[in-house]
Amino acid sequence: MFERMKIQIINGPNLNLLGKREPGIYGSEGFESFLENLKTKYPTIEIDYFQSNVEGELINKLHEVGFSFDGIIMNAGAYTHTSVAISDAIAGIKTPVIEVHISNVYAREEYRHHSMMAKNCKGIITGFGLQSYELALLSFIS
Ligand code: DQA
Repeated sequence: MFERMKIQIINGPNLNLLGKREPGIYGSEGFESFLENLKTKYPTIEIDYFQSNVEGELINKLHEVGFSFDGIIMNAGAYTHTSVAISDAIAGIKTPVIEVHISNVYAREEYRHHSMMAKNCKGIITGFGLQSYELALLSFIS
């Protein structure tokens, strides 16, 4: 039987506030409505979503899906810049991870210019608003 490609989206801290949080930087659309549209647009792909503000829960999710899914799209929020543990988790799994950011982190404060996880990721997409997630998805299917 035909198996749908499985992609996991993981959002880290404060991204549950999308739509309400600093709309000048992150836009005014909530993630849930964006996700519904994405699923409708790509019906042949299984898109699972997980968000947590807790570092260990993000790591547990990477371990859970990281040996069976086809791709992971991860916005680790501020943990991008600080977390050795998330970077190690990405290095330890088989599924390729794409690091995404809604804002252009290189146009912001200097402490956002460094990513702890980037070297263990397949690539980085930053600065395209919520479309960053769709661009990452497209890279897995093309
Ligand atoms: C972010 C950028 C990070 O620097 C920040 O801490 C976030 C969101 C983004 O999507 O633009 O929480 O990852």
